[in-house]
Amino acid sequence: MMSEKLAETVAEIAATLSARADRGRVADYIPELAGVDPGQFGIAVADAGGHMATAGDAATPFSIQSVSKVFALTLALGKIGDSIWHRVGREPSGNAFNSITQLEYEKGIPRNPFINAGALVVSDVILSGHTPKVALGEVLRFLHFVADDETIFIDDKVARSEEATGFRNAALANYLRAFGNLKNPVEMVLGTYFHQCAIAMTCRQLAMAGRYLAFGGRHPTSGGGVVSSDRAKRINALMLTCGHYDGSGDFAFRVGIPAKSGVGGGILAVVPGKASIAVWSPGLDAQGNSVLGSDALEMLSRRMGWSVFGD
Ligand code: DON
Repeated sequence: MMSEKLAETVAEIAATLSARADRGRVADYIPELAGVDPGQFGIAVADAGGHMATAGDAATPFSIQSVSKVFALTLALGKIGDSIWHRVGREPSGNAFNSITQLEYEKGIPRNPFINAGALVVSDVILSGHTPKVALGEVLRFLHFVADDETIFIDDKVARSEEATGFRNAALANYLRAFGNLKNPVEMVLGTYFHQCAIAMTCRQLAMAGRYLAFGGRHPTSGGGVVSSDRAKRINALMLTCGHYDGSGDFAFRVGIPAKSGVGGGILAVVPGKASIAVWSPGLDAQGNSVLGSDALEMLSRRMGWSVFGD
């Protein structure tokens, strides 16, 4: 059973934030996301048993965008193991998520798997040996399994909207290909990446999906292993150091929990041994991270004593 304190805290956070006027700006460089109502806020916290504390719009599907990079990395590591680290680094970039400058200095090896350049390499790994359709089917199947929910889907309209406007990602992909760090045709890698980002999930589903990272790599419902506990620890380390792009240091300072953001306004946060948390509010700060989502996690971490740096 969920603790009463947690249920109360989650309800309080949602009530406090519902009065907040300054909510940041909705991502508008993806036209389909520009029209999302910034007034929404959802939070879901799952424990090992899948018990949930939720508040606000926790059952409304939103575009998970870059949060998908955590699941894609998990699949790519499962496919080619640690050899992926020859093609992508493990350092925070200190640059915007869609920056291209570092790629030239560092000869086509992206700093980490969560900036767009690194995520394109990860999508390339997932795609190898498959058609984009089959590769995306694997991503979805993985999410259905870890979230115990077969209804999770790809929002095709969002994918097509980004496909029509994603010139920066196209530049990054072409650049990577020029350095030999993409093996598949650029259009196929981009198509896979855009569709992976366009997965729609609710806070409830996302919190359920993140449990394997919170609980030693295991799938709490079946008890089976999703990844080794070492791998779960390392993915969490990358989320803490790189999960919020050039806002990662500030997020660690304020919240102190491994977490991955997306420009849809979602954040998946992992409290090792304790909980998997999903928050969502579409308004973003200058780094592309959810304003209310970060505030909610800061409040939750403080009140529950959940910072990984001490309670
Ligand atoms: O590639 C993009 O720009 C988007 N599909 C995803 C970026 C994103 O979510 C960055 N997160 N804060």
